[in-house]
Amino acid sequence: MLQDAFGRRFYYLRLSITDVCNFRCQYCLPDGYQCDHDRNFLTLPEIKTLAATFARLGTEKIRITGGEPSLRKDLPEIISACKNTSGIKKVAITTNGYKLPEHLPSWLDAGLDAINISIDSLDAKQFQLITGHNKLATILEGIDQALAAPQLTVKVNTVLMRGFNLDELSRFLAWVKDKPVSLRFIELMQTGDNTTFFDQQHVGGDTIKCHLLQNGWLPALKDKAAGPAQEFYHPDYAGKIGLIMPYSKDFCASCNRLRISSLGKLHLCLFAEQGHELRHLLTPNTQSDTQSNDEKIERIAAEITSLLGDKKVSHFLQDRLTGATKHLSML
Ligand code: GTP
Ligand code: 5AD
Ligand code: SF4
Repeated sequence: MLQDAFGRRFYYLRLSITDVCNFRCQYCLPDGYQCDHDRNFLTLPEIKTLAATFARLGTEKIRITGGEPSLRKDLPEIISACKNTSGIKKVAITTNGYKLPEHLPSWLDAGLDAINISIDSLDAKQFQLITGHNKLATILEGIDQALAAPQLTVKVNTVLMRGFNLDELSRFLAWVKDKPVSLRFIELMQTGDNTTFFDQQHVGGDTIKCHLLQNGWLPALKDKAAGPAQEFYHPDYAGKIGLIMPYSKDFCASCNRLRISSLGKLHLCLFAEQGHELRHLLTPNTQSDTQSNDEKIERIAAEITSLLGDKKVSHFLQDRLTGATKHLSML
């Protein structure tokens, strides 16, 4: 099992398979994705090699992210390749859900175990204002479909912003009254390009926490292996609430994941350092190769283990000041 100098164990890989996104979320890509045709995202064989390498290092869960991962036509193959990797027990995806009802059956067939879907407003007009798309009804339909699949863990992500959707807090809570979903409020994060927006819109997670505690929500005990969300439950509600507060002081202590960018760099932290190039190690074996596939995996595994030595105990303070996280593909 991969473990760093601070005793944190990394059994969870976040694998970005594309930078491209079709939404224009205000806090992320307000002008839309700037198309660069030279972007050469990880191929399916490269993804298979990475999955096998991380599994060799004790990874049990792979979360496929983007950009918007469903923009890749081979997403079902990617899900199934990850799922069929020996040692990988769970395959998850984070998506904006824009064609969820259409896509979900093929993802389930491919072996998907968990899905996180973003919804920043429950009002159709406001949703469009935030994301640039009138897709709320489709996504809500997809969520109900996902909740009906017994094998699937379903979570919803909401970024609360002062001037856009903070006034919907009670509406969001009412929404989970009868919906057995985990709804997580993610604190707006400062990225390289949204500094002014951040200053105007950021809502501290503590504000939400107070509201929950004053309204009968109770903190859930945190599992040792759990990720960054602090969870709350309410005896009268079917759903749960999670708070993801990247600026809270304990946040980094529960870090359990490493990330690979869509171009094959290893990132030790969400609050980006520049990343460590792995792609040159991923080239598929040819007949003339003297190195076996197993040897190749061993070599990449050794490189990752050695790079993990650079992981810092906490990055958030220093990098909040420099705003080092670039955009969604890093989240
Ligand atoms: P699960 O625990 O598997 O459900 O994953 P998750 O909640 O981390 O996944 P998701 O893709 O839904 O991410 C939600 C948000 O969590 C991201 O936008 C980030 O704000 C935050 N997050 C995810 N991973 C990290 C991390 O390694 N560090 C920090 N600081 N935040 C993270
Ligand atoms: N701050 C907080 N959350 C963000 N997301 C994207 N950009 C930001 C940001 N600057 C969220 C998306 C999605 C999740 C993967 O990250 O809404 O739910
Ligand atoms: Fe882990 Fe870095 Fe995130 Fe802290 S900021 S939780 S160390 S990835």
